[in-house]
Amino acid sequence: MTDREAFVDAAVRSLRELSAEPANAEKHVRVLQSMAPFPRQAQSSLLDRWTECFACGRSRASAVDHLAQGLGSHAQRVAILRLAARRMVEASWIEEAVRAFHHSCEPLGPAAFDPFPLRDKFAALSDDYDENFWSGETARQFHGFLEDSISFSPDWAALDAGCGTGLVGEWLAPRVARLDGIDLSADMLARARTKEIYDSLSEGDITGELEDPGRRGSYHLVVCNWCLFYIPDLSGFFRAAAGALMPGGRLALSVYPCLDDADVMRKEAETEFTHSRRYLRAKAHENALTEEQMEIRLSCAHPGFYAVFANRAS
Ligand SMILES: C[S@@+](CC[C@H](N)C(=O)[O-])C[C@H]1O[C@@H](n2cnc3c(N)ncnc32)[C@H](O)[C@@H]1O
Repeated sequence: MTDREAFVDAAVRSLRELSAEPANAEKHVRVLQSMAPFPRQAQSSLLDRWTECFACGRSRASAVDHLAQGLGSHAQRVAILRLAARRMVEASWIEEAVRAFHHSCEPLGPAAFDPFPLRDKFAALSDDYDENFWSGETARQFHGFLEDSISFSPDWAALDAGCGTGLVGEWLAPRVARLDGIDLSADMLARARTKEIYDSLSEGDITGELEDPGRRGSYHLVVCNWCLFYIPDLSGFFRAAAGALMPGGRLALSVYPCLDDADVMRKEAETEFTHSRRYLRAKAHENALTEEQMEIRLSCAHPGFYAVFANRAS
């Protein structure tokens, strides 16, 4: 064992020996705070212990708040709270997971939003997008949600908004009669096209494309996975998606979460955003969409809100 490994081992052991007495909460937080330079495995082990001690019973929410308050610098707080959030979803403490994730985010501030620079980002990612572990994993998480929450009919027309290379489309195509896709990135669309699963693929912003009069009232299902975290204000998207649905049609989506204390938060210094349930429900309500499902599941390595809304227009 190297000196460093021995040090980490001793730190993990000393935290294990600390009891869950409220008086020891400060010590737990201090140990967690000092673990930033530790290997990820040791961080996980410390967080497990913290979770066992403090994230139990009715005190879980305040334990998470306490952890967030006790953590120091921004980068350290974000790393530890994100890891804590993931472990809490895995432990089925899903509300606490959202709370921990919420504390890892920042207020929205004056977010200028221009989707088009994303084209360069996805041009660079498109070549090996499908081979990236997280792309596949996140698409599988969404497949699982669709499987559990939607009763498909083989005559349906569906639209994949922000379809990327078609990782969700591959799963959807055999379940519907028609599948259209929209994406900003010509390079992601080029990969999707090679799969020959879409009846049409359109390049452009999802909101603008969904508003195309040719799509009005056309779809039984609109899906949008792992894309809305690029858009802080979802008003236009909800309006356009509701308009593209047939009466009784469904909108299924995933977003990164924040608590109802906020509508929208900034996920990182870069332009990624999180949305609260209150906000999603308000946008749905404004557009005559009824909530059918709202769940917390893993989305990539973070907690996510997964929702289905139905168009109640007749
Ligand atoms: C992380 S990928 C996810 C792709 C796919 N939905 C999946 O689950 O594999 C996000 C995709 O959304 C697209 N995108 C982001 N913002 C968009 C917007 N405003 N309009 C259209 N596409 C957008 C990106 O170009 C990218 O292909």
